[in-house]
Amino acid sequence: MFTLIQISDCHFARDPEALYRDENADRNLARLRVGVEAMAPDGLVLSGDISEDGSIESYQRVAGQVRGWAPLRAWLPGNHDNKAAMAEVLCEPDFDAGPVLDWGGWRIVLLDSAFGDRGDGTVDEARLAPLEAVRSEASDRPALAFIHHQPMPVNAPWIDKYGMANSELLWRRLAGTRVQAVGFGHVHQVFKAEKNGIVCLSAPSTVANSLAEMDVFTPDPTGPKARWYRLHDNGRWQTGLISAGMN
Ligand SMILES: [Fe+2]
Ligand SMILES: [Fe+2]
Repeated sequence: MFTLIQISDCHFARDPEALYRDENADRNLARLRVGVEAMAPDGLVLSGDISEDGSIESYQRVAGQVRGWAPLRAWLPGNHDNKAAMAEVLCEPDFDAGPVLDWGGWRIVLLDSAFGDRGDGTVDEARLAPLEAVRSEASDRPALAFIHHQPMPVNAPWIDKYGMANSELLWRRLAGTRVQAVGFGHVHQVFKAEKNGIVCLSAPSTVANSLAEMDVFTPDPTGPKARWYRLHDNGRWQTGLISAGMN
């Protein structure tokens, strides 16, 4: 069994005391450490908006916190990230940019939906090419895909207006693959649905979340979260959320 934890939307800034939606990004990520380490994860996926301002300092401080949380760590970008700065700091051997990872008995695909500093995302054939590695004829491994933007509306207008263009192309390219679930970030709320036999799951933010399915961002008082996956070699899997401790 492989335990994977998805960390998303940390929104660190150059100034460690900066507030994001009235919350401190550094301290709220730190509040998840006890819950993450209690699961003894084998791997972490950082699924974008790791920085709020794309600064080198923000990536350095996230890396400093999470480096010890799991032996394997990988990342993909979100709309707030600076891909060059992210790649410079979150580099090998400590961090892996994929886009294809063989973790445990599973194959993990990391997809890029971010472009420029626009809030909405997009995919195209080139960005979806890593899915070739999980086509049924290419691999026997059960698979997960991660991407920053939501692959379907989450019924929250404030964030669905920053959705993913070309999501229908994503769904066409997922057909015929071994992908069992698509994990995403960006929406800062809990979401789970199923489409075409594939489960779609958000990881809420590690800094600030909204209650689900609201017209405007409405603070969720239950605080920062991360998502865990237990990936069994026989293709079965479970998932759930980690909440911040009181430390
Ligand atoms: Fe975000
Ligand atoms: Fe985002």
